[in-house]
Amino acid sequence: MLDFLGSFERTHMCGDLRAADAGQQVVVMGWVNRRRDHGNLIFLDVRDRTGIAQIVLDKELTPEGHLKGEQVRPEYVVAAVGKVRLRDKDAINPKMPTGEIEIEADQLLVLNDTKLAPFSPSDEAIQNEEVRLKYRYVDLRRPEMQKNFRLRHDITLAIRESLSTQGFLEVETPILTKSTPEGARDFLVPSRVHAGEFYALPQSPQIFKQILMISGFDRYFQIARCFRDEDLRADRQLEFTQVDLEMSFPRQETVFGVVEKFLSAGFAAAGVTLATPFPRITYDDSMRQFGSDKPDLRLPGLTDVRPAFTDAALATLQIDPALPVVALRIPKVGELSRKEREDNHPLFDLKKGAKFIDDFKRLAKGFPESAAKVRELVGAEDGDFVIIVAGDPTHPVKASDTKFEGRLSEREINVYSAAGNFRTELAKKFADKHGAFGVTETAVRDADPKSGKALDGTAAFNPIWIVDFPMFEYDLGLARWMPAHHPFTSPKEADMANLVSDPASVRANCYDLAMNGLELGSGSIRIHRKDVQQQIFQSLGISDEEARARFGFFLDALEYGTPPHGGIALGLDRIVMLLAGAPSLREVIAFPKTAKAIDLMADAPTTVTEQQLKELHIRVALKS
Ligand code: AMO
Repeated sequence: MLDFLGSFERTHMCGDLRAADAGQQVVVMGWVNRRRDHGNLIFLDVRDRTGIAQIVLDKELTPEGHLKGEQVRPEYVVAAVGKVRLRDKDAINPKMPTGEIEIEADQLLVLNDTKLAPFSPSDEAIQNEEVRLKYRYVDLRRPEMQKNFRLRHDITLAIRESLSTQGFLEVETPILTKSTPEGARDFLVPSRVHAGEFYALPQSPQIFKQILMISGFDRYFQIARCFRDEDLRADRQLEFTQVDLEMSFPRQETVFGVVEKFLSAGFAAAGVTLATPFPRITYDDSMRQFGSDKPDLRLPGLTDVRPAFTDAALATLQIDPALPVVALRIPKVGELSRKEREDNHPLFDLKKGAKFIDDFKRLAKGFPESAAKVRELVGAEDGDFVIIVAGDPTHPVKASDTKFEGRLSEREINVYSAAGNFRTELAKKFADKHGAFGVTETAVRDADPKSGKALDGTAAFNPIWIVDFPMFEYDLGLARWMPAHHPFTSPKEADMANLVSDPASVRANCYDLAMNGLELGSGSIRIHRKDVQQQIFQSLGISDEEARARFGFFLDALEYGTPPHGGIALGLDRIVMLLAGAPSLREVIAFPKTAKAIDLMADAPTTVTEQQLKELHIRVALKS
C-alpha cells in the first residue's frame, strides 16, 4: 500500500547533509539505492540528484516504518522523516560526503514502487548500451550521468555568461527553414499548407546569423540546435548543439580572442585552466607535423625522416622518393613481438597509397645507418615504438593527384594522413593497454582538474587553431573547383586577385579549433561584398540561377548594407564530452540516437497514419 505525501515538504537534499546538521529534524525524498536488513535495524540508502543519505529504521522507534522498510526494494520512491545524527565512529564512511551522519527515521513514506528494470542505477558498470538507451530514464538516474548533466549545465551557463559579458546578444533563429550551406544532407519537413513543398531543418544558423549582422546586431550568439542527416559516429549525432556566434567588423584575431575567453570560462566551470592564447598552426604544417587537420598534441608529432635514406635505400625499400617519408613515435610501448606488431597492421589504412615499415630489426640489418638516423631524428628512447610511413610507388597515380604549385598534393596528403591516422589509432590502443601516456579518455578522466594536467604532467586539454586552409578543392567527377568550406567563406585579401586565374593557390579566411584530436569548432570571415561573392560563385562554377535558387534571399540581403563580418561555431556536445572524459556524445546528450539513428526509448522513427500522410500530400514508396 503506497503512501501519499500529505503535508510533508522536503527540507533537505540527501547529498547535502553533513555532521553540522546533527540534531536537525529533516525530511528527505528520493529513490532507494540499497537496502540492508539487520533484523531490528534496516538501513536504506536514499538517493537523489545530490547524493545519498543513510536512513536507519529502528523497529523499536518506528515499528510501522520498519515494517515498510522490510517491503521496499531498490528504486522504490520514498520519503524519510527523522532526525540527523552522527554515526558511530566505526560506522563512518569516509568515501561518502554524507558518510559521517545518518537519519534516524521516525516515519517512512513509500511514495511509489517500481517495476524491475534490467539494470540498477547503483550498478557499477552497465555493459549493454542499447538497454541503457531503452531505459534511459533509469540510466540517467545514475550518479555518473547526473554528474555529466550538471557539468553540461555549468559549462553552458559559464559560456553564456562570458559571451553576454563580451557584448553578445542571444537571438533564436528558425528551426523550420530553408536548406543551409553546410553541405550535409538535410532533414526535410513536408508542408501541409503548401502541397509538395518542404522546410529544411537547419544544419546550422549560418545564413540567419549573417543576416543578423546585416540587421545591425553587431554581436550575436546562440546555443543552437542543429540537424544533419549524417552517418553517426562517437562524436556525431543527428541533432547536436553549437555555441554559435557571429560578429561585425572582426579580424580573425578578434574571433579567436572571443572564443579563447568563453572557452576558458567553460573549462573553468569544469575546474580546468586553459592556457591562452591557444597556439596556431597552418593547415599545411598541421598535415606535415601531425598528419591531420585536427591534431592531437598530446603525442609526439610526425618527423620527416627522408634525410635518413639514400636514393638507393629508398629504391630497395620500395619507397616513393617523390613523396614524404615520415616517422611516428609512440612512447613507452615496450618491446613488441612480431605477433604484437602484426596485430597493429589492420589499424593502418592501406587504401591511401601509403606503406609503412615497423620492423626496425630488419631495417637495421639491411640499412643500419638509416635505421640509426631515423631513431636519432625522432628522438626515440628505449621502449618507444617507431614506425616509418612513406609513399607506395606501386600505387596507381590518379588524375586528381595533380600537384598544384605551393600546395600539398592529394598523394602527399594521403601519406601524411595515413601516418596521422595510424598515429592516433596506435596511441589509443597502447594507452589503453599500458596507460603509458596522456592520450586517451582514460588519461583525460584521470587528469588533475585543477591544473588541467594529465597524470604524466602534460596538459590534458590541448586546444590549437588551424589556419590558412586552402579555399578550394578540385572535384574530378564534376571537373570543377569546389569550396572546401561553405561558399560564403571569404578568401584571404592577398589571394583575391588569383581567384579565377589560379584557384589552387587561394587560401581561405577560415579557421578550425581542434582539441585532443577532435574538431571542436569551425568558422570564417565571410564575404560581405556582392562582387566578391559573384566571383566566388563564378570560380566555383555555380551559375547565377543556381545561386539564386539556393541562396536567393541571402544574396538579396547582401545588397542592403552588409558590414564585414565573421564568426564561428563550436560543438557544445563535444566540449562537454571532452570535459566529462566520456567516450561518446551519447554520454552527454540526454536522449541521443544510436549509431543506427534510432531513439530506442521513444521508438523513433516510426511509420505514421495514412491520414497524416494524406494531409501532407505524401505517398510512401516502399520497396516490396
Ligand atoms: P561546422 O559544420 O564545422 O560549421 O560545425 C561546427 C562544429 O559543430 C560540431 N558538429 C557536430 N557535433 C556533433 N554532431 C555533429 N553531427 C556535428 N557536426 C558538427 C563540431 C563542429 O566543429 N556554420 C558553420 C560555423 C561557422 O562558419 O560559423 C558550421 O556549422 O564541433
